[in-house]
Amino acid sequence: MTKHKVGRFFLATCVGSLFMVILYFQNITRPAVEQPGGKGIGPGKTRRSPLQTLYNEDQLDMSAVQASLRGRRELLEEACLTHTRKRRVLTPDDLRHLIVDDKHGLLYCYVPKVACTNWKRVLMVLTGDGRYREPLAIPANEAHVAGNLRTLSEYSTGEINHRLRRYLKFLFVREPFERLVSAYRNKFTRSYNTAFHKRYGTKIIRRHRPHPEPEALDQGNDVSFQEFVQYLVDPRTQREEPFNEHWERIHSLCHPCLIHYDVVGKYETLEQDSRSVLRLAGADGEVHFPTSGKSTRTNGNMAAQFFHNISPFYQKKLYNLYRMDFLLFNYSNPEYLRFR
Ligand SMILES: *[C@@H]1O[C@H](CO)[C@@H](O)[C@H](O)[C@H]1NC(C)=O
Repeated sequence: MTKHKVGRFFLATCVGSLFMVILYFQNITRPAVEQPGGKGIGPGKTRRSPLQTLYNEDQLDMSAVQASLRGRRELLEEACLTHTRKRRVLTPDDLRHLIVDDKHGLLYCYVPKVACTNWKRVLMVLTGDGRYREPLAIPANEAHVAGNLRTLSEYSTGEINHRLRRYLKFLFVREPFERLVSAYRNKFTRSYNTAFHKRYGTKIIRRHRPHPEPEALDQGNDVSFQEFVQYLVDPRTQREEPFNEHWERIHSLCHPCLIHYDVVGKYETLEQDSRSVLRLAGADGEVHFPTSGKSTRTNGNMAAQFFHNISPFYQKKLYNLYRMDFLLFNYSNPEYLRFR
């Protein structure tokens, strides 16, 4: 091909991509109920796709669990209509957090600090063709290796649209400030997380500590929650680069007003909601979602303690930053906050 032709081909592909992604929007109100992979049901095969199972069950009588999942879905849709102004077109970059399971017809948007290690382990079992059997036997660091699981951004536009329409899309959310405190504790109060201390800690101390010790400036390993909050609400922070995924808002990681999620799981009901997703996927016989025995989980009381030292001024600013996550996922304002 000549240079000119290559250029034209490239342009045509770009325009085509936009068109395909837009097509997805016109279809989200009516979920399609076909087989994953779109190959149809062969003779004698009656296995339903997870989406089909979900919406068929919605029409029959619903269990309490299903009713609550439906309630969340509807609330999210309402909140999106009320609180977002413009709809924009999805780009492949928006899809980096969506993990694909072509075998079961699942799309999972992973959110750090919301059981994402265990969900990645489960998906490695489900997509691994027998390589893994027991989720907890997979080391945590291996679950996070890029390339062990495929993300939707790696597919072509046509393949993306097909999956967005046909697969069961789900994510797990958590009370925004509990998630934030959990991220702070994990990344800044553990001595082994030197990468985070170097990358973020040193910068936070340089900017937000009036008279830092040379050692603190060098190591970045004793960032206080207060300093972390100042860093988050400082307009310079997001101007320079996007938030790290551990404290980025779920709204910005998973685009729940652009992608129509079928199941909104909650960390607060993690085991029950995970069971529901695996049952819809027809995978409850293949794998069990690991139950956590951890007693050091961040909870509401712990979050209250961390916020005790934060002034109402910064509490308000931080709330505004995470406001969409509170509104879209039906989390009420924590009682410990001290602003009107
Ligand atoms: C939203 O939250 C309120 C209060 O926690 C709860 O009573 C209600 O059932 C929730 N709504 C949905 C749709 O989950």
